[in-house]
Amino acid sequence: MITDYNPPKPIPRLRGAPLIGNTFEFARNPLEFLTRLQRQYDRLVQFKAVGRLITLTLTPEDARHVLQENNKNYRKSEAYDVLKLFLGNGLLNSEGDFWRRQRRLAQPAFHKQRLALLVEGMNQESAELVARWQHHNPAEPMLVSEEMMQLALAIVTRSLFSTDVKNRLGNLSESITVIIETAYKELFNFFPFTRNWPTPRTLRFRRAVAKTEAVIYEIIDSRRQTPGQVRHDDLLGMLMETQDEDTGERMNNQQVRDEVTTIFMAGHETTANALSWAFYLLAQHPEVASKLRQEIDRVLGPTNPPSMETLRELTYTTQVIQETMRLYPPAWIFSRQPLQSDQFGEYRIEVPEARAVLICPYLLHRDPRYWENPERFDPDHFLPERVKNRPTYAYLPFGGGPRMCIGSNFALMEMQIVLAMLVRAFDFQLVAGDKVQPEPGITLRPKGGLRLRVLPRQKSESARS
Ligand code: HEM
Repeated sequence: MITDYNPPKPIPRLRGAPLIGNTFEFARNPLEFLTRLQRQYDRLVQFKAVGRLITLTLTPEDARHVLQENNKNYRKSEAYDVLKLFLGNGLLNSEGDFWRRQRRLAQPAFHKQRLALLVEGMNQESAELVARWQHHNPAEPMLVSEEMMQLALAIVTRSLFSTDVKNRLGNLSESITVIIETAYKELFNFFPFTRNWPTPRTLRFRRAVAKTEAVIYEIIDSRRQTPGQVRHDDLLGMLMETQDEDTGERMNNQQVRDEVTTIFMAGHETTANALSWAFYLLAQHPEVASKLRQEIDRVLGPTNPPSMETLRELTYTTQVIQETMRLYPPAWIFSRQPLQSDQFGEYRIEVPEARAVLICPYLLHRDPRYWENPERFDPDHFLPERVKNRPTYAYLPFGGGPRMCIGSNFALMEMQIVLAMLVRAFDFQLVAGDKVQPEPGITLRPKGGLRLRVLPRQKSESARS
């Protein structure tokens, strides 16, 4: 009997070393390893790392398939377990009905009208930084990456808790650094069971998590005890007040803690890195910096802070941010675990062997099939007519589908404000001899930090003329 059954085509698979597969190549230099695969393969390729069969997707269509069209067949992969250590069961990690309900509850806090309430705080934090930088000796290079971390932390703190807790949270920055640094190391710890061993690293990490948690619980408790003072104009107030439409239920303290910690963590390192990369790129591209400044001067003038209305007019500023996140997407890779075998055109991934499916914005954003001159920093990549002609999932700095970043508008608004305020006041220059490399961990950050010379604008302009 003749049937029209076509057996699936085998997905190309790397021949790794016995037992360890390609673990070391992948862990040693993931960007180089994955870029090499992108050059060699068109659509899908599989390799073994950490004892798991991993499928790398290389096209926007397959990213859309996993994140959107067939998203029900995927859960967050084991790589996210590292985050569970300190984020608990917040939005980034949770699954199924629990995630759906939490997302529904948290969503209103991120609506544009709500975000408008946060503009003033973002402006004030940025203005304080501008004032502080005016006193910096321009001859001394500045560790801009650290400055951006502190600024983004101050902004997310203020957006979550208003101003009343700044002092209480001020001394958390050390604990947060410990948490982030440990999480980076744990990402490439191929023996996750050691996480429960009482090593100095784990003990330090646990102390930092406990300290952060205690402060957050204290803030939640003090708000619960004084319900008359519940604020609705910050994210914490909104998360505590929001009610499930069907059941009228609110989040309990543990859920609020997990969501607050998630927003706190997801909401500052990503944005801080994107901003650092923007200053790095602007320092190398004076023609873009000058065009950007013209727009900022025209729309905001010499002293006005941005408002919701003027932010809409800062279109080139937005393109600069989009282009920065194209070349250096803070969330440079994410992964999913398939629940059942799945079909990708004529290919098929088989469960349980296939354990993780990777979607890599870093690769998709530099793929010459979708981008002209992909290695060039050119904000015109985001001119509306060029965006229209590109598959949507060729650009996914905030992910896609139902699990897309809930804070994308928050982040874009924050980056516009910070960029506009700082570029209006300062000029950025590379430090001669410094080599800046991306370090791919939980986010993509400048390896060893980013140092730049930061010159008050008039001075640097007159020095050039
Ligand atoms: C440039 C800045 C940012 C980037 C590039 C970014 C990127 C992402 C990406 C790619 C995801 C999806 C991850 C996945 O599918 O596995 C995500 C999820 C998330 N992001 Fe962001 N993010 C940024 C800023 C923020 C901010 C400012 C907040 C909060 C204020 C935030 C909160 C979250 C949360 C809560 C999730 C989980 C959403 C869910 O699964 O329902 N992010 N982010």
